[in-house]
Amino acid sequence: MPGVHDLRSLPNVYDPFPLYAWLRDHEPVHWSASLNAWAVTRFADVLRIFDEPLRFSADRFRKIGERYASSRPAVRAVGEVLGDWLVFRDPPDHTRLRGLLQKSFTPRRLEGSRARIQATVDALLDLVAARGEMDFIRDVAFPLPAMVIAVLLGVPTEDIEPIKTWSDRLAAYLGGVVDERDNFTEARAGVSALVDYFRRLLRARERAPGDDLMTLMLRAEHEGDRLAHEEVVANCVLLLFAGHETTTNLLGNGLFHLLRHPDQAAAVRADPTLTPHAVEELLRYDGPVPATVKVATEDLEWHGHSIRRRDMVVPFTAAANRDPRQFDRPDVLDVRREPDRHVAFGFGLHFCLGAWLARLEAQLALDTVLRRLPGLVLASEVPRWKPMIFLRGLETLPVRWQTVGASEGRWR
Ligand code: HEM
Repeated sequence: MPGVHDLRSLPNVYDPFPLYAWLRDHEPVHWSASLNAWAVTRFADVLRIFDEPLRFSADRFRKIGERYASSRPAVRAVGEVLGDWLVFRDPPDHTRLRGLLQKSFTPRRLEGSRARIQATVDALLDLVAARGEMDFIRDVAFPLPAMVIAVLLGVPTEDIEPIKTWSDRLAAYLGGVVDERDNFTEARAGVSALVDYFRRLLRARERAPGDDLMTLMLRAEHEGDRLAHEEVVANCVLLLFAGHETTTNLLGNGLFHLLRHPDQAAAVRADPTLTPHAVEELLRYDGPVPATVKVATEDLEWHGHSIRRRDMVVPFTAAANRDPRQFDRPDVLDVRREPDRHVAFGFGLHFCLGAWLARLEAQLALDTVLRRLPGLVLASEVPRWKPMIFLRGLETLPVRWQTVGASEGRWR
């Protein structure tokens, strides 16, 4: 049947897990004509890709083959900015950029954000608590990470709304949207607006330095010429994008699955020390970044296939995280599962720089929502997934709960 094994067909995008299982068992390295790439789905193989960054390059903008190249100005314009992103660079440039940014992302530095994140969660819930219902994505899962990364970077929080519009357009491309949109035209519009915005903001920061990531990167540019100005701009866009889109989806996917498994939600509610385990399990079970893209730098034979130098190779982390060769009962959500190695944040050289921050935000948000909103349930059992392959998240997540004062605990 056509489309049954197509990773881009809508039914497979909305519920990819049956196809992942088939691929792991029958075609662990699979040529996907619609992705124009090799899809890799077993845990051990995905780990190998992350573990061999020289053979599987992150630099998809410089190292891919001619057949992917395009002369369209929109494509080149997007590549010029994204090509400077840390996540798409190989050593030695990656080492230089990562070394610099890493200093701001140590648990010790970020621990200072805990009180602010908790206060933000509480303030967002104050706005809706008496209502008895909300769209969790719009009311909590989007604004929380956007505000957190805006403050860290030094972006005024009142600019978050326009930033979201631009960033959504970029997400259509990076997320691999499968609807009718022209991804590159969308992405170009989003990227140009974000680049203009950060250029303006950086000029202001040069005149009046602050205690934020933008200032830190600017200083690095001036001290010893380690960061070019355009690299600063590009990596501001990266941090802003990576800092909110993914975490929004972790909060949304996480709450959705917890509420779909009331026994699991009850376990976390009864014992908050389970929350960190629950967050790891939710990342494993249905994480926000199901796959990333690498490029083969040499020919290789793998599971009976010939991969050629400059072919795109896609490690499907979401498939790896459900591999029964690695995890016991992988399709069961179990918040008591002993922390096991999952690859929702990638692995090795490019392991997510924001993992600690994302975990902290998810732990505080889920814990507070479960504690403060009694009788919290899904208002609709039918999820509305975004039509994307490389990013996984819900368009909306309507929920309702009992409000204090609603007589005899009736639903409002
Ligand atoms: C739940 C939320 C998140 C998930 C699932 C996630 C996932 C990932 C993954 C899978 C990678 C590796 C990509 C690859 O190897 O191709 C990555 C890299 C990265 N992430 Fe995240 N991320 C999350 C949140 C964040 C946040 C909050 C930030 C920043 C504040 C961030 C910043 C980055 C950066 C800068 C990289 C590139 C690291 C490098 O190349 O050395 N991420 N992330």
